[in-house]
Amino acid sequence: MSSALAVEFDDIQGLVRFGYKHHTEAAFLLLRVRDRDAARRWLATVPVSTAATIEPRPEIAIQVALSAEGMRAIGVADDVVAAFATEFVVGMAGDANRARRLGDLGANDPSRWQWGSGGRAPHVAVLLYAMPGKLAALQQAIETQCDAAFERVACLATSDLDGIEPFGFTDGISQPLVDWERRRAARDAERREYTNLSCLGEYLLGYPNEYGGYTDRPLLDRAAAGPLLPRAEEAPDRADLGRNGSYLVFRQLRQDVNGFWQFVDRQAGGDARQRERLASAMVGRERDGTPMVGASDEKYEGGGDPGDLNAFTYRSDRDGVRCPLGAHIRRSNPRNADLPPGAPGIVSWAKRTLGFDADALAHDLVASTRFHRLLRRGREYGPGVTIEQALANAPARGDTGLHFICLGANIARQFEFVQNAWAMGVHFDGVANESDPLLGTRVAGRDGAPCDGFSLPRADGPDERIAALPQFVTVVGGAYFFLPGVRALRWLAGLPREGAP
Ligand code: HEM
Repeated sequence: MSSALAVEFDDIQGLVRFGYKHHTEAAFLLLRVRDRDAARRWLATVPVSTAATIEPRPEIAIQVALSAEGMRAIGVADDVVAAFATEFVVGMAGDANRARRLGDLGANDPSRWQWGSGGRAPHVAVLLYAMPGKLAALQQAIETQCDAAFERVACLATSDLDGIEPFGFTDGISQPLVDWERRRAARDAERREYTNLSCLGEYLLGYPNEYGGYTDRPLLDRAAAGPLLPRAEEAPDRADLGRNGSYLVFRQLRQDVNGFWQFVDRQAGGDARQRERLASAMVGRERDGTPMVGASDEKYEGGGDPGDLNAFTYRSDRDGVRCPLGAHIRRSNPRNADLPPGAPGIVSWAKRTLGFDADALAHDLVASTRFHRLLRRGREYGPGVTIEQALANAPARGDTGLHFICLGANIARQFEFVQNAWAMGVHFDGVANESDPLLGTRVAGRDGAPCDGFSLPRADGPDERIAALPQFVTVVGGAYFFLPGVRALRWLAGLPREGAP
């Protein structure tokens, strides 16, 4: 590997590589620029934690991301901002079509959000992580430092629910395995098997992605940009503002835990086993993480070690008898290869490639999972609610939910595709009139078609069909950010740009 190809861990913000799981305390500050110069001074020096490994593990970590509006607010030139991806520039709440595609309708409409639209659209997100007992002092110090430069849109607290999301299911089990060593051959044209190993360029700009190409990003004139920025790997005469940076999608998702458990309980006629079965089918895993499809010791590239909770694909359950086709985890990662599954051999391959395999065609909407992976970095918030409390309709002690955060090099192809085509898609994988059982808005499509069903296919008869699912998850805030490389952050903050070699 030439030095140009080495991964610069100390220029990458740590969240891309680490989930900061040992940092069980976290708070997210969402800020708007009050004083441009003060904001630039702070951004130029804030000690962001990098992806380099440090022993012993530091007690705190700080990550800083900017929205497109935030870049403009600190004085980044319009043409530079415009060279970032359109969806980032427009913003999550920036247009009605995007809102419709993301399911931000009805109760999710951005006009109802607590933050993220209009004058409450954040410019800067400061993510603070700390080991137990260390957050309060860190937060106070950062808030004091930021006070002159920024006004606060929100300060989002998080809760440590011990790896269990508020509905009661183990979360954070499945993640793509990022190819930090860059083992994956570029221009790897076709993957016939599901793979969990994912090119670095799927999460970081400036490195080859799953198409073997470099995702578009601002490549600047080196003389004008100055010496601070790295060179573009594929165009060394250009300064790469994107390199080592990632887009960060943030959505605050409020969860109606009482509503969820009371609904499944009613469907189950109060039977505890049936209640668990239905709730697990909606997620695609039992509460302890056991996959509904059954642990199969299925090993694949980059994961699925025998015995782990990810040792499965849906190859042996194509009709969704064990894990419904519409289950949340099946929608958000159908674990497909580039071609629909089929028998080995050239004839089968040709049929599937040319689209003459009727059985494969029914599933082809969900091919090519590897282009739509997300690095999830979310945290829970609010008080935990037990199932017993939820069933007893115990009064809420405050909102609870998920600060959903994911990273990717292409918001449109990753987060927006998964959210729109797979989670909200009413015809996902051949199912009809359904959307994600956890995330769906239940707002009928423009043709009036309902999307509030959920079906559990049976091996020996018609599907078991659940109707009139209520909305369990409501979007209460959201924004797209750019999590820059460390040099790019300093450059954006206006550190000297003169003197390019
Ligand atoms: C409050 C909202 C949500 C809840 C309660 C929730 C819950 C869960 C749970 C329990 C799992 C299983 C644990 C695991 O496999 O790691 C999971 C997996 C996953 N979720 Fe969500 N989730 C939510 C929102 C979202 C959103 C908005 C997206 C993306 C648009 C998403 C994408 C995923 C993905 C990609 C996986 C891993 C699937 C796999 O690789 O098998 N989730 N989620």
